[in-house]
Amino acid sequence: MFITFEGIDGSGKSTQARLLAEALRADGLDVVLTREPGGSPGAEEIRRLVLEGDPDRWSPETEILLFTAARRDHLERTIAPALAAGRIVICDRFADSTRMYQGLSRGDLRGLVDQLHALMIGREPDLTFLVDIDPTVGLARAKGRQGTEERFEDMGLAMQERMRAGFLALAREFATRFRLVNGARPTEDVAAEILSLTRAALA
Ligand SMILES: Nc1ncnc2c1ncn2[C@@H]1O[C@H](COP(=O)(O)OP(=O)(O)O)[C@@H](O)[C@H]1O
Ligand SMILES: [Mg+2]
Repeated sequence: MFITFEGIDGSGKSTQARLLAEALRADGLDVVLTREPGGSPGAEEIRRLVLEGDPDRWSPETEILLFTAARRDHLERTIAPALAAGRIVICDRFADSTRMYQGLSRGDLRGLVDQLHALMIGREPDLTFLVDIDPTVGLARAKGRQGTEERFEDMGLAMQERMRAGFLALAREFATRFRLVNGARPTEDVAAEILSLTRAALA
């Protein structure tokens, strides 16, 4: 079972991915918790190139290639071996984030993203949680984190609004694997819903 978390900045993806991994491990399941961009040594190096520095550092096309290169390495070295060994893989962001951020926010390049995905990745998650939140709340939470990985956070509220709408559209496009979860609730309530949806999918 390959599970991913998607949504805008500050929606609670990383928090919920970690809580789900802990809960499934407490059930005795073998879980690999990983993230994108990154999740393998080579992809973590690419992560720094795409998440730090000037927002205009890369052209949209170059950026798509970097994200796809990182994903390919992550899939080869971390995700595919874990799934082949029968483990549950939980990934904080995956290809849907590229469909959104690189496919729509940086020009209408969704077609290019999909072509590269088909050529180089060719794998969708079994289950995807879209943690949905008002961008005003999400941005305030994200800013509170005080990190250096802010290339995309700096895109501002209007872009986050478009991203939210785009993620909701993706959830409709891939309706069988997506589960829409309201992230504007206490952490434990969101986690309980995600755990019960995951148990249902595993059963
Ligand atoms: N349900 C919640 N209610 C309030 N704060 C939250 C909630 N979920 C996460 N947070 C906090 O908001 C910030 C962003 O959460 P995070 O999980 O890092 O979001 P994301 O990975 O989607 O950007 C963190 O400081 C986290 O502790
Ligand atoms: Mg996160």
